Amino acid sequence: MTPEEFRTAGHALVDWIADHRARLADLPVRAVTSPGEVAAALPILPPDGVEPVEALLADLERVVVPGITQVQHPRNFGWFPANASLASALGDLASTGLGAIGLSWQSAPALTEVEEVVCDWMRRLTGLSPAWKGVIQDTSSTAVLVALLAARERAGGHCALGGGLQACPAPLTVYTTAHAHSSVVKAVLLAGFGRENLRLVDVDPVSYAMDPAALRRAVEADVTAGRRPAAVVATLGTTGTTAVDPLPAVVAVAREHGMWVHVDAALAGSALLLPEFRWLADGLEPAAGPDGAGGADSLAWNPHKWMGTALDCALLYLRDPEQLVRVMSTDPSYLRSAADGRVTQYRDWGIPLGRRFRALKLWFHLRLDGVEAIRARLRRDLDNARWLAEQVTADPEWRVLAPVPLQTVCARHQPPGLPADDGDALDRHTLAWVEAVNASGRAFLTPAQLDGRWMARVSVGAEPTEREDVAALWELMRTAARDAG
Ligand SMILES: Cc1ncc(COP(=O)(O)O)c(C=O)c1O
Repeated sequence: MTPEEFRTAGHALVDWIADHRARLADLPVRAVTSPGEVAAALPILPPDGVEPVEALLADLERVVVPGITQVQHPRNFGWFPANASLASALGDLASTGLGAIGLSWQSAPALTEVEEVVCDWMRRLTGLSPAWKGVIQDTSSTAVLVALLAARERAGGHCALGGGLQACPAPLTVYTTAHAHSSVVKAVLLAGFGRENLRLVDVDPVSYAMDPAALRRAVEADVTAGRRPAAVVATLGTTGTTAVDPLPAVVAVAREHGMWVHVDAALAGSALLLPEFRWLADGLEPAAGPDGAGGADSLAWNPHKWMGTALDCALLYLRDPEQLVRVMSTDPSYLRSAADGRVTQYRDWGIPLGRRFRALKLWFHLRLDGVEAIRARLRRDLDNARWLAEQVTADPEWRVLAPVPLQTVCARHQPPGLPADDGDALDRHTLAWVEAVNASGRAFLTPAQLDGRWMARVSVGAEPTEREDVAALWELMRTAARDAG
């Protein structure tokens, strides 16, 4: 494709995307295809010759759009907000269009330095001290893996350089809660700690946040048994209920035992953009003073969730990036340059060698949408979630099941005729009415289990969601629950 052909096709595609976003509200929210239907609509071989861009756009319309749950839809309340702001989409296009490759600073100095600057902008915007240095990873899943690799090596005396984990004198243990994201468990396994060395610490039964006294007991039991506590992963905004682990108390326990503290704020990090939500990060910073004791070691959060920078864009901040570099640095001769030693080599801060110019989408997002508009949207969503929680609480057949510190409301309907102790029947009822809402195509929310029983999670925060959308969802929920009961 020549640049001129790209210009023509690109304009057609941008027009198509703009039209698609403009009519989203009229589409069903949940994907309407059955398993195999998308694949069956495509030829078994690609065409031999050239196709016009119109043919591709027609297939986007015919095959792809029905095969997508429209998470940019104003009535999407499923999972977590996965906003892909159009401003950041332009940045992504610029990144791919430039075709830069981040192998070393020398391969694209701007790729490294825009990333450094944008990470620092985000640090300032979220109120973090200059003690933190940032890098953009693809996802929070990668960020927690990278953090746990560094934690493993620090606790194990950098055993990977010798006999690896098998040479560690004592088993290394990791602590989190059952409410942490599944990516934490995955990272523990991938980093080689082993499931037997993962402790799921008890949570407070009301807030679902980590119980620091239980953390202390678990750590001390391991020490007594000759194990070496290596890391704790605390969550600000758990996936199920947005519970906030008590960071000051968690950090205090971890520090006594020289453990790494990783903070997973994948969703809640966006709220740190709001000064009134900075309390979320209490305990994150080292103490003021010469020894700078305390604080966490790493923090990850996703602009690609609620804030709305298109996936994939996860910020990872570290107090001491050398801990990563020591574990992950590579120095092949073909990547050396005269700038080495004076510049950041981001390949040593993570797993891939070839890095995309991800900073551009965050840069475009901040500059084209503006920080104040992003903050106003987050405040609107928090307000809408509070409003919904009030409606649910006011209805005697409904319950809000967990505190609502952020934008997610966990709710359950108890039909009047159903015995309160028939949990299985209640589960069937919950799943039936949630499915009725989702099958209607008029809104989408995801059921999840809490204390072993199904509930509905209403995650407010799609970019175009206004109060009238939340009110329409609440009406749909009540109708569906009444009809299912
Ligand atoms: C608390 C939490 N941590 C981590 C993740 C994983 O994020 P990612 O998809 O960026 O790996 C999620 C995803 O929803 C999450 O809710």
